Amino acid sequence: MSLFALTGAVLAQVPDWPDEEREGVVVNYTEAKVGRFTLPDPLRLNDGRPVTDAETWFAQRRPEILRLFETHQFGKAPAAPDGITFDVTDAGTPAFDGKALRRQVTVYLSGSKNGPAMDLLIYLPAAARGPVPLLLHVGFTANNTLVRDPGVKRGAIWNRDGVREPAPDSSRFGQLRVLPFVEAGIGVATVYYGDIEPDFAAGLPHGIRQTFLRPGEQLAPDAWGAIAAWAWGLSRAMDYVETDAGIDAERVALIGVSRLGKTVLWTAAQDPRFAAVIASCSGEGGAALSRRNYGETIKLITLPQRFGYQFAGNYARYGDDPGQSPVDAHMLVSLVAPRPVLLQTGTTDKWSDPVGEFEAAVAAEPVFELLGEKGLGTTTMPPAQTPIFHTIGYYMHEGGHGTQPDDWDQYLAFLQQHLLRD
Ligand code: GCU
Repeated sequence: MSLFALTGAVLAQVPDWPDEEREGVVVNYTEAKVGRFTLPDPLRLNDGRPVTDAETWFAQRRPEILRLFETHQFGKAPAAPDGITFDVTDAGTPAFDGKALRRQVTVYLSGSKNGPAMDLLIYLPAAARGPVPLLLHVGFTANNTLVRDPGVKRGAIWNRDGVREPAPDSSRFGQLRVLPFVEAGIGVATVYYGDIEPDFAAGLPHGIRQTFLRPGEQLAPDAWGAIAAWAWGLSRAMDYVETDAGIDAERVALIGVSRLGKTVLWTAAQDPRFAAVIASCSGEGGAALSRRNYGETIKLITLPQRFGYQFAGNYARYGDDPGQSPVDAHMLVSLVAPRPVLLQTGTTDKWSDPVGEFEAAVAAEPVFELLGEKGLGTTTMPPAQTPIFHTIGYYMHEGGHGTQPDDWDQYLAFLQQHLLRD
């Protein structure tokens, strides 16, 4: 194994906080107590040989890293079902004062109309003269609650008791930002993650994963967790997009927040059809280095009473010593190369470890460079509110977890730079 160690070149822009205890585990928020570690080298094959050209990366190293993430972190998802079907229930209705055309599509995820179905809501710029780039969002709540558009089909959400009920008209998750994107010539689409797989430990019998299990069969330790299921569903949305003449399927970016930030990274890693990805506060299991003992850790995230179900069973094996894992977050970021990836964090989102996301971006850079793309180009962490937008982008807002209203301006600028250039 080759050694790739980050030195102390990263200037912490994030204040230390007192430790806290969660589930009997001490959570560290002091930079000096993060610990020393060595990252696996993304540019060295499992057998130790260095990767010095793009061909070896794509033919050998990239598939190796993908397999490692499947086996040890997210779990292996099945191939797309044969004969996946789509129902276009709304082919193009004017919306947003006529500036957008709305499409609504039901995606039958198992290929059968009796199986799980996902509602895909799409707004395309009404003024478009040809196929447009698209930002595909995966959300925490039903599509109709994310936009003020009475024409959108009311979805069904999972309530706290794990039962599906009709979605309300609005939610605490805020609104999807549609207008600035369509005005810039970029379509916006969204799906509700609960249409694919519920987000609770006992959800397995109700989602897409169980349709692939034989009666009585258990999930294997390397079988897909909920994040891999959500990622699989996003690939099914892409299956539809490839059939839509109004969208340029080669310019589709993904966006998701938090556990859905982890999800969009894993989606883009596996499915090269996606052209770019924006991961907001993806944290542990996403873009934050697991080897840093700071904020949430593998130990905490994989606890059965917390989020173990979101990952392959194997992931919990690294809870006591993340250094034993053959992967870390920089390798997840590197799987997106040479496509653009924006990591957005927040100064007070200490649970998600914004410094750990910055360091992962730095450590992924050699892969982007090998493929002729520019990484962050610095090992010094930028201050809050100061984006770095190369093929790897990093932007830390002043504030806490998730997407803040102004972040959408940064997302748009990043996509304009990467999806609208010739
Ligand atoms: C929890 C979890 C995080 C996750 C977050 C979210 O805080 O520990 O890993 O990112 O929920 O999805 O909001």
